[in-house]
Amino acid sequence: MSVLSVEALRKTFVRGLARRRTEALRGVSFAVEPGEIFGFLGPNGAGKTTTIKILMGLIFASSGTARLFGTEVGRREAKQRLGYLPENPYFYDYLTVVELLDMVGRLHGLPAAQRRQRASALIEEVGLGHAAGRPLRSYSKGMLQRAGLAQALIGDPELVVLDEPMSGLDPIGRKEVRDIIVSLRRRGKTVFFSTHILSDATLLCDRVAILVRGELRDTGPLGQLLSPAIDGVEVLYTADDELGARIAAGPGQHERTSEGRVARVADLAAANAVAKAVLEGGGTLLSLAPHRQSLEELFVQEAAAPGRGAEAGS
Ligand SMILES: Nc1ncnc2c1ncn2[C@@H]1O[C@H](COP(=O)(O)OP(=O)(O)OP(=O)(O)O)[C@@H](O)[C@H]1O
Ligand SMILES: [Mg+2]
Repeated sequence: MSVLSVEALRKTFVRGLARRRTEALRGVSFAVEPGEIFGFLGPNGAGKTTTIKILMGLIFASSGTARLFGTEVGRREAKQRLGYLPENPYFYDYLTVVELLDMVGRLHGLPAAQRRQRASALIEEVGLGHAAGRPLRSYSKGMLQRAGLAQALIGDPELVVLDEPMSGLDPIGRKEVRDIIVSLRRRGKTVFFSTHILSDATLLCDRVAILVRGELRDTGPLGQLLSPAIDGVEVLYTADDELGARIAAGPGQHERTSEGRVARVADLAAANAVAKAVLEGGGTLLSLAPHRQSLEELFVQEAAAPGRGAEAGS
């Protein structure tokens, strides 16, 4: 049974007197299985937060279904088994992180002793030990994000839903959050998080879904979404002008850089032909680098792909 799933989910926001409509979700379906780290990827405005808010029961879908632990969202039982970090965590800012965790722990029904013990362990884990006694209003953005993560974990939930958990964090903070996410999986938890920081997704996720303008473009293991095939080869070499011009007259794109001359060709056979010409012509081969599609490029390509605009007048 899936821990979290949405099916044919649609959400249209209607705003203002002009009744401007925004189709934030246009029929999105995917499922997250137990024990997975599942990345929800998409550029700004793709509909990630909208999907998560529907799953958290904070807003209603226009149509379609959203399920947690196999039952439609909005049931109290599911909330107990769930930890949630909102995109813009709003906390009672006069509280300290200790008090915040105590409050959220109480909502999860934890007894006092367990709340205290879990709170102090989590505060250390998210790196807020030095600021535990300070009110949240004195926290920086990154510190608030860490406090938000701690409150999502206080109930020791089976499922952790994090909307942009790395946002506002410096590289060390991001590494710490990644480590926490990995340790959650080790303990058998399921983690669903949204991000547009692609390197974090590459490092963490078992599977991802890529959302663009309210439509799912792809779901699966990153390794499968990224074509493993070589989509080009870069040959770096030095040569005199006569040899360089001869090679540049051949197939591919050619340019000069501070390091030498670069030939970008379609495949390994073409690259080897360039290398042979370089060596036979008395030039020096510096490198030959096959290129595979990165997540970054997939993302840019998906975002640029033609699709209907998000906004539609009525
Ligand atoms: N309350 C709202 N009223 C009107 N439009 C909304 C509302 N909330 C979201 N939208 C629109 O829905 C679309 C999706 O927004 P959403 O916040 O889900 O995107 P996102 O993928 O989370 O983006 P980001 O990466 O910037 O957080 C956007 O076009 C946004 O303007
Ligand atoms: Mg968002």
